[in-house]
Amino acid sequence: MIIIKSKQELDLMREAGKVTGIILNELKDLIKPGISTLDIDKFVEKSVKKYGMIAAEKGYCGYPASVCTSVNEEVVHGIPSKKRILREGDIVSVDLVVDNQGYMADAARTYAVGKISERAQHLIDTAEKAFFDGIAFAKEGYRVSDISHAIQKTVEGEGFGVIRDFVGHGIGSDMHEDPQIPNYGKPGKGPRLQSGMTLAIEPMICEGDWEVDVLLDDWTAVTVDGGWAAHYENTVVITDGEPELLTL
Ligand code: MF3
Ligand code: CO
Repeated sequence: MIIIKSKQELDLMREAGKVTGIILNELKDLIKPGISTLDIDKFVEKSVKKYGMIAAEKGYCGYPASVCTSVNEEVVHGIPSKKRILREGDIVSVDLVVDNQGYMADAARTYAVGKISERAQHLIDTAEKAFFDGIAFAKEGYRVSDISHAIQKTVEGEGFGVIRDFVGHGIGSDMHEDPQIPNYGKPGKGPRLQSGMTLAIEPMICEGDWEVDVLLDDWTAVTVDGGWAAHYENTVVITDGEPELLTL
């Protein structure tokens, strides 16, 4: 069942989204060669608290940190660690969920660590472009897989792969609500979009094959072929016109 949010619920999510977006933007200055992924976690935890909100990933299904930090061939759910030092040329995906009085916003970005290769930058840019091509269909009347199809077309058109094992999702008082939003598929399928739906749309893409493995920490998903991955996500509200982006 897809939950349509009330004006009050949307307002709480708007505030959560604003904080999520601010923190992800601030990370651009923090992320540099020599910092650890735990430094990202500490910064996020402190920042979310400052706004009187909660980093919702901590404790979710036993997840041990305030944010996910996934480096290079890690796709999603990388666990911050003081031992994981970022080096010049790495890329790191940061995925953050902020809870404001029981209502959540979810967003992710992939950051360059110092100077990165042209190919890595192309991968990062493609994830972002795929998101925006996807949300051209995030409007009342279209169906969920119209978004999916547009994302896949952009990603594969650039010669990259779409991760299949993780999908976008509805979001609200639960981090993961209906519907699921795959980043691939034929258009014209799935639920019809309606005003007041709130969706986390999140292309997760890779250089090569989309197959992933989960490491022995039970969380970190890596590409099997070792190709690098990028992630770009925002929480959006469906309207009868342009979608409202809560986490920019
Ligand atoms: N934020 C992720 C998503 O995009 C979920 C992270 S799982 C967690 O859906 F356990 F880390 F919270
Ligand atoms: Co998400």
